[in-house]
Parts: sequence; C-alpha cells; structure tokens
Amino acid sequence: MVDLSVDLGFIGLKNPVIPASGTFGYGEEFLPFFNLDLLGAFVFKGIYKNKRMGNPPPRIQETPAGLLNSIGLPGPGMKELKKIIKRVYQSTSTPIIINVCGETDQEYLDVAEYFDRMEEVAILELNISCPNVKSGGRCPAQDDKHTYRLVKQIKQSVSTPLIVKLSPNVTDISAIAISAEEAGADCISLTNTFLGMAIDLESRKPLFSKIVAGLSGPAIKPLALRLVWEVARCVHVPVIGMGGITTGQDVLEFILAGATAVQTGTINLIEPSASIRIIKEIEQIMKEQNLMNLRELRGTLKT
Ligand SMILES: Cc1cc2nc3c(=O)[nH]c(=O)nc-3n(C[C@H](O)[C@H](O)[C@H](O)COP(=O)(O)O)c2cc1C
Repeated sequence: MVDLSVDLGFIGLKNPVIPASGTFGYGEEFLPFFNLDLLGAFVFKGIYKNKRMGNPPPRIQETPAGLLNSIGLPGPGMKELKKIIKRVYQSTSTPIIINVCGETDQEYLDVAEYFDRMEEVAILELNISCPNVKSGGRCPAQDDKHTYRLVKQIKQSVSTPLIVKLSPNVTDISAIAISAEEAGADCISLTNTFLGMAIDLESRKPLFSKIVAGLSGPAIKPLALRLVWEVARCVHVPVIGMGGITTGQDVLEFILAGATAVQTGTINLIEPSASIRIIKEIEQIMKEQNLMNLRELRGTLKT
C-alpha cells in the first residue's frame, strides 16, 4: 500500500496536492467535478480587507505553454469571505488555506488577524508577492528586510500556522526565503507568477492595463523547479513547490528537488479535475518505483 501523506510539521495532509490560490476559486466551484475531500488541502483566492473590482479587461492572454494574467485580485473583502469560508467548510473536511493580501503592512496584518483562530481556517498563506503601493510598487517579497519585518509582525500577532509565498522576480531567492524563515514562517511556498508582458502590434500598446502581467503554466516549470531546489537547500522549514505542474511526474520532480508538498495552478483552469488525476498518477509512479512513501524521495536529488 502506497502512503501519499505528507507532514508539514504543523499539519499532516493526506496527500501533497494543493490547488493554488486564484486558480481554484473558493473550492465550491469545483464541487461538480470532484469531492474536495480527495485533496491534500486547497487555497482560497487571495483576499484583501475591502471589496475590490480587479483590473479592467483584457485580464488573461494565452502564450505558448503558458498564461499571462493581470486579474488584479478582485474579491468580496474579508467580511464577505468569512461567510463563504463557513459555507465551504460544511462541504469538506480538507484543510482550507486563506491567501492573505495587503496593499500596506497594516492591511496584511488586519487581514491575517481577522482570519486568525477561525476554526474553519487551517493555515494562512501570506501572499507577499503582490504589489505594495506604500513601498513604491514593489512587493514585500522583493526585499529581504521588508519580508523579515512583515513576517515577524504577523507571526507575533497570529497563532494560525503561516506559509509565506515568495515571488520569483528577485535576484537572490535564498536571501528572501531565509529572511522569512528567520522571522518565523512555518513554511515557504513558491513560486508566484513571473513578470512578463504582451504587446498589441496593431495599436502599439501594451495588451494589459497595468502593462506587465504574471506568467504561469508549463512554460515556467523549469524556472520554478530551480527556485524550489535552491530554497529547499537553504531553509529548514517545509517548502511547498509550484509552477507549471500538470502531471504526477512533475510533482515527484518537485519533491525530489526538496518540496514537501506542491500546488497546482493554471492546470485547474484547463482541466478542473486535474488535481485528482495528478494524485492518481503520483500513486501509480510510486508503485512502479517501489516507493512506500514520499519521504523516501524528498530532497534525494543526486547532484
Ligand atoms: C488566474 C490566476 C490568478 C491567481 N491569483 C493568485 C492569488 O490570488 N494569490 C496568489 O498568491 N497567487 C495567485 N496566482 C498565482 C498562482 O497561485 C501560482 O502561484 C502560479 O500561477 C504558478 O503556478 P502554475 O504555473 O501552476 O499556475 C494566480 C495565478 C493565476 C493564473
């Protein structure tokens, strides 16, 4: 019998597959496709304090093997979200992860504190890869000192386990990961989308209103795998890897690189039940390779 369970230290998951923020709605949209109880956990779409409309269209553009998005994090605000969490919690026993966003450090703190100690919320994922208006358009994850300051402040104020989600748009990802760990992060997740852009030749204008957009999907898998490998070597807390995962084989590659669990993103938009297929594929490959559990594989990359 193959054991797919993984241990993040602060919580055990029945398997390592977690649909990623922004690609899985609030979970309930996927109920027609499969039973949410089959997942390791799932992440809600990112949430700010107040209601947001997001960016004007166009918001997405397909690229070869990828997707550019400039959605702009629309959402109902944290009070409305609380009602949604309570409703979704009735339909599953799978851990719910809330993706915490903020335009200022204070907003991150307010949102994190609001969802702290809600029995329906198992984990908070701090999305420090979104733009922080107060720091001149840079997000906290692009500065190791800012990462440290923000994570420390939030860890002092909440008791719910905290995942810190990193941005790939940095020169030295290890420095940011170490800052997050030293500030008390219980887990590191990476990676968010890579900055890219699209141009409309006819109008000679950028396609997206914010000019730059985030690239995700299979196109970024080799880049994300390298970042996950690098971070997993330099922190002691568990790492959740993501970026372009579409198959069980992809998942096992991320685990070989040092990840304890993974998140599936863009693939959910193309194939809503992909995460369930991926879980079955992991099990199949483990049987073929005579692996009893994922600990046997994690971080065993032969370099
Ligand atoms: C349409 C879309 C919306 C996203 N929204 C969020 C979000 O709200 N919060 C967040 O942390 N990441 C968000 N992401 C990033 C994903 O969670 C994930 O980090 C990224 O897409 C890389 O994984 P993938 O290549 O498997 O999609 C979004 C990605 C996409 C494509």
